[in-house]
Amino acid sequence: MTRVAVYPGSFDPITRGHEDLIRRALTFADRVIVAVAVNVAKQPLFTLEQRVALIQKATADPRVEVRSFDGLLADFVRAAGATLIVRGLRAVSDFEYEFQMALMNRNLAPGVETVFLVPAFDLTYLSSSLVREVARFGGDVSQLVHPAVGQALRQKFGK
Ligand code: PNS
Repeated sequence: MTRVAVYPGSFDPITRGHEDLIRRALTFADRVIVAVAVNVAKQPLFTLEQRVALIQKATADPRVEVRSFDGLLADFVRAAGATLIVRGLRAVSDFEYEFQMALMNRNLAPGVETVFLVPAFDLTYLSSSLVREVARFGGDVSQLVHPAVGQALRQKFGK
């Protein structure tokens, strides 16, 4: 049986923290589908197509597939034939929202389990929003993102 995990998010943009989680998910899943949400409440910095392309460049593994999705995550996961949803837990502040989401997704798709992964120690405080902010003001994010993402950020902010 092939074990498929879905790793959903807005990935605006993908960071080394996301990459770390994908690698960790591949230790127990045969395939990981990185599912990029179309409808994010906040106005994203990168378009959907740009976010997908950057994830493809940053992952480049035949076991990783990048797809976009609209609507309910639970519907996407079922349609993809996946049985796992992977989410990262960085700090206590993540917990309540993640717990609510996991319970709601279980309600919507009872056969699907949410698995929380802890990122590498040095990536724990990393987030896409921090990366965007540092890059916006010309700070160095080269340790925090794949080179393709760094280049895309420099282009975006004209640095
Ligand atoms: O990276 P993010 O922004 O924390 O990702 C949140 C995301 C996209 C995974 C979440 O908002 C989501 O699953 N959206 C799809 C709509 C949905 O299913 N909402 C109900 C979740 S219980």
